[in-house]
Amino acid sequence: ITARLADGPLAGRHLLITSGPTHEPIDPVRYIANRSSGAQGTAIARAAVRAGAQVTFVTGPADVPPPEGVTLVRVETARQMLDAVEAALPADAAVFAAAVADWRVLSEAGRKMKKQDGALPQLELAENPDILATVSQKTEGRPGLVVGFAAETHDVLDNARAKRLRKGCDWIVANDVSEGTGIMGGTENAVTLVTSEGEESWPRASKDVVAEQLIDRIAEVLA
Ligand code: CTP
Ligand code: CA
Repeated sequence: ITARLADGPLAGRHLLITSGPTHEPIDPVRYIANRSSGAQGTAIARAAVRAGAQVTFVTGPADVPPPEGVTLVRVETARQMLDAVEAALPADAAVFAAAVADWRVLSEAGRKMKKQDGALPQLELAENPDILATVSQKTEGRPGLVVGFAAETHDVLDNARAKRLRKGCDWIVANDVSEGTGIMGGTENAVTLVTSEGEESWPRASKDVVAEQLIDRIAEVLA
């Protein structure tokens, strides 16, 4: 049971959170996706609800059950996620924790593709809209605080800094998901918060604790 704090630090605030992977259909039985359990985004939503926020939670097909006490919007594809995000605005803050598939198949087959002797299917890809960049670069109705994630396997901080500037978001939560860290698919996370003012590395902790720290920092700047 998640209790909403009527007098919590985020009472009266609307937070928009994306979470989970997106699935981009190839045909009725196949899809392209990123690896994402949805655990970190779900933990952030739970922490936001506990802090008293009204939360719109836009999620792709995740492994973990959705949080309680949110306005839940289930989507499949990146384009559906963008539509749901646009429909959920305005928001005081937005956290983009989803692992959005960068590409979709240009023309989804209406029927299951069948193997044909020796002939390989050729998939033509199209780039998906960048939801975080779209919202960050809005001239009207931009949330006061926009937070993105950068899951990287190498040059983590350089990539995260560049991503923050390129997309125009306020903060990036950067983490190293290279093999050996055990972060991907695990219950813990180790992140660095990258802002215009500097960088803070938080000690490795459960995804719940990381979520609480992030929500505390968001509550501070919205206060
Ligand atoms: N993101 C998004 N829409 C996309 C792709 C990414 O909203 N189409 C968001 C993610 O939710 C995340 C941030 O952008 O908050 C960074 O995602 P990431 O995949 O690391 O960035 P990309 O720009 O796609 O770069 P890369 O080539 O490293 O995948
Ligand atoms: Ca990507």
